[in-house]
Amino acid sequence: MIFTVAIDGPAAAGKGTIARAVSERFGFACLDTGLLYRAVGAKVAAGMEPVAAAKSLSAEDLGRGDLRSAAAGEAASRVAAMPEVRAALVEFQRGFALRSGGAVLDGRDIGTVICPDAEVKLFVTASDEVRAHRRWLELRAAGEEVSEARVLEELRARDARDTARADAPLRAAPDAVLLDTTELSIDAAVEKAVAAIEERIGQGRE
Ligand code: CDP
Repeated sequence: MIFTVAIDGPAAAGKGTIARAVSERFGFACLDTGLLYRAVGAKVAAGMEPVAAAKSLSAEDLGRGDLRSAAAGEAASRVAAMPEVRAALVEFQRGFALRSGGAVLDGRDIGTVICPDAEVKLFVTASDEVRAHRRWLELRAAGEEVSEARVLEELRARDARDTARADAPLRAAPDAVLLDTTELSIDAAVEKAVAAIEERIGQGRE
């Protein structure tokens, strides 16, 4: 069975948490596509040319322990604006999406560019302040010393860059279900995502 769930949205909106929960619930494979760009950004920061870095990504690159840092997010969004870098990562993502048994991918352009035919598309958002607070808690838990105001500033700058870029900008697909998690608990947000998927699975059986 091929069944793709595309989850897009701005930084720290809850995409990853929802993607993991949904993949466990339905037994689908899960790919955090932001990690691909973070790993390319890290290789570029270490001196590599961006397109060569994207073409040579290995499992080891994706397993680095420092990819969740604020600096890695910033580096990711810079390489993510380069069309040749994006092009080098398309085939892997599409292959993953079409694997048998179902797949969940989260990112910025999954429902618009990578999987325009995905069975379910979700666009997850939350207010800037709530997203910055969540990200600040995550960074702090990971031992990164940073102020919440700085996190908010960086998050807004990254969203602006992701939205303004010419190639595969951050935006909701016209047929995406909008999920605003500003006032939702994780469990409530996951339940809404699960309901959208179950509805689609039900339609397939009719
Ligand atoms: O976790 P968070 O939402 O902060 O970021 P992420 O999903 O790990 O993505 C990091 C950066 O990679 C984003 O700011 C985008 O610039 C880029 N990205 C992208 O362009 N396309 C994707 N499908 C996923 C990430």
